[in-house]
Amino acid sequence: MIIFDRARKKFGNVDAVKDFSLTIEDKEILGLLGPNGAGKTTLMLMMGTVYRPTGGTITVDGLDVVKQPNEVRKEIGIAFQDPRVDGILGAFDVLNWHLKMTTGLTKEQREKRVEEVLRSLDLWEARNKRTWLMSGGMRKKVEDAKVLCQRPKIAVFDEPTAFLDVPSRLLVWDMIRKLRDGGSTIIVATNMMDEAERLSDRVAIVNLGKLVAAGTPEQLKSTQKGGEVLEVAVESSHGLTADILTQFSEVHNVHVDDNKVVVYLNSGRLLLPKIVETLTEQGFKIGSVHLKEVTLEDVFLTYTGQRLE
Ligand SMILES: Nc1ncnc2c1ncn2[C@@H]1O[C@H](COP(=O)(O)OP(=O)(O)OP(=O)(O)O)[C@@H](O)[C@H]1O
Ligand SMILES: [Mg+2]
Repeated sequence: MIIFDRARKKFGNVDAVKDFSLTIEDKEILGLLGPNGAGKTTLMLMMGTVYRPTGGTITVDGLDVVKQPNEVRKEIGIAFQDPRVDGILGAFDVLNWHLKMTTGLTKEQREKRVEEVLRSLDLWEARNKRTWLMSGGMRKKVEDAKVLCQRPKIAVFDEPTAFLDVPSRLLVWDMIRKLRDGGSTIIVATNMMDEAERLSDRVAIVNLGKLVAAGTPEQLKSTQKGGEVLEVAVESSHGLTADILTQFSEVHNVHVDDNKVVVYLNSGRLLLPKIVETLTEQGFKIGSVHLKEVTLEDVFLTYTGQRLE
């Protein structure tokens, strides 16, 4: 378990992290979602003993990051935002060297793991290419691969899929999930909503160095009362009154136009068939339905008054 208790970091007079408190459970994928400059990297590097907090405490499995940095370091692997790979070596040697430094595996065990991860990330053909000749996306994958083959107890990925193409993003997400299934606790920093939503068991939204909200993507979205919008086109809305639909507790508001009904609700996907059925039973002819679901973007907007992108 990782506990941030009122953690702070000041760089000169910049408050990069302010009174940040959060508990990260074992074996979960925690997504840290926030815009550029929110403090994500600073949070992770404080936890990883790279930066020293200027206030509060951070403990990793009961170990204090300031008082017991060496013990903490043994538990953590970090895939940095800017790849830190030796340019002269090829990917295979970079990873093999990383495992030599961070694990007690034998040569055979190391080579087996490196091959497995390189193949899974579609980097096997490029295994001997010098990393300085690689594209930005490939280099980023090599950085992620370090932690994926290290399999640390706590794995940190700082924007793991920045610069990656879509197929590569899916491969990396898949490998991160496998690492979690193997028992690691995972923290992923991202400014991409879809990444936070699709990859994380829980999301912590960060803005201006502060924790804004935390929960499963579903929990965060359900805080948006009536945040989803269902538009139902009808041939004629003559005789249609709001109470036909406000009987459902998830419906918060209904707006009736001549040939359109706009419903503000929650759990829209579950309720959609019931609404269609109810309107049909009452004799209204339905043309089309369109559901705009709540996104984490909406959650972010509600809490901060700003857009993420
Ligand atoms: N080494 C440093 N020295 C001075 N200021 C820093 C340093 N690192 C970060 N900062 C400042 O702290 C704040 C938080 O930065 P941080 O890199 O943690 O944000 P981030 O959420 O990781 O952003 P990004 O999405 O751009 O990676 C920013 O205002 C940044 O300018
Ligand atoms: Mg960052």
